[in-house]
Amino acid sequence: MTAIDTTTQLGLADSYGRVATDLRVSLTDRCNLRCSYCMPEEGLDWLSKPELLTDDEIVRLVSIAVRQLGVHEIRFTGGEPLLRRGLVGIVARTTELAPRPQVSLTTNGIGLARQAQALKDAGLDRVNVSLDTIRPDTFQQLARRDRIKDVIAGLEAAQTAGLTPVKVNAVLMRGVNDQQAPELLEFCLERGYELRFIEQMPLDAQHGWNRATMVTADEILEQLADRFGLEPTDAATRGSAPAESFTVHGGPQTVGIIASVTRPFCGDCDRVRLTADGQVRDCLFARTESDLRTPLRDGASDEELADRWRRAMWKKLPGHGINDPSFLQPTRPMSAIGG
Ligand code: 5AD
Ligand code: SF4
Repeated sequence: MTAIDTTTQLGLADSYGRVATDLRVSLTDRCNLRCSYCMPEEGLDWLSKPELLTDDEIVRLVSIAVRQLGVHEIRFTGGEPLLRRGLVGIVARTTELAPRPQVSLTTNGIGLARQAQALKDAGLDRVNVSLDTIRPDTFQQLARRDRIKDVIAGLEAAQTAGLTPVKVNAVLMRGVNDQQAPELLEFCLERGYELRFIEQMPLDAQHGWNRATMVTADEILEQLADRFGLEPTDAATRGSAPAESFTVHGGPQTVGIIASVTRPFCGDCDRVRLTADGQVRDCLFARTESDLRTPLRDGASDEELADRWRRAMWKKLPGHGINDPSFLQPTRPMSAIGG
């Protein structure tokens, strides 16, 4: 029998009593879409190759998180993680870790049709696919690319490969797709995808977010409640999951609403993020980051890296502060942080 590793007990705690066990790892800041709530039309200045963690560096940090820091859920994100060449290998090496973490992928679905089975074979458990509309013209307007067919093919392939439950994330934008919640839900129910609406957050590179015009959770619920016979599921089962969940027509199918802005859930947060260039972010909205890449490349031991990570986490603030007058948007946009 091996001795209990006491460092695991400490985990990634912060000074408010929360413990992060869910790690979001951004594999690239690049993307093949330009969703207006995320990126400007012309894209951004991408990280350069030497700035990005290598596949080995990512696996090393993920393995420290899992083996020494008590993380049991890994989600790979981007930008668009399917653009990362080594993705399948990174997933395979992550699912080989002991204790084996849950491993999922947040993707825009483009290219998923080609990679879904390989990802499943590598041990990937689930996918979250972003889809904000089922209308090709609205998709083109919102994501500025004519790729809806690829996304829908990706969703189907994920379902076939058993990357289930397939979850769909949707953001509603005023004047673009704000009237399309019912048809999107219909589409997902027919195919057995679990739809979750996410309130638009101030994370776009262009700083176009506006509280006065954002589509709120209440408004989305109003559109859906009667038509789909929504009933809240037991709030006690929500735990640290940000989505409030509702059964549709008595269940078993559900729809989720992530009210990050109007009903923040920071008090139950169990998440921590690693950017593609090796910076720990204790919150999507953090205004500071802790560099793990430099010590990693300077030869730090696993212990030292784990220790830096713990200390980074301790500083996590109690909430995102979006609703405070003094709120300042983080300098990195969503595409460079990872959802
Ligand atoms: N507000 C809310 N959700 C966003 N996403 C990207 N930018 C924003 C934003 N500003 C979503 C994407 C994806 C997930 C990673 O986060 O649609 O589903
Ligand atoms: Fe790409 Fe996702 Fe940003 Fe859309 S939200 S531009 S799919 S990174």
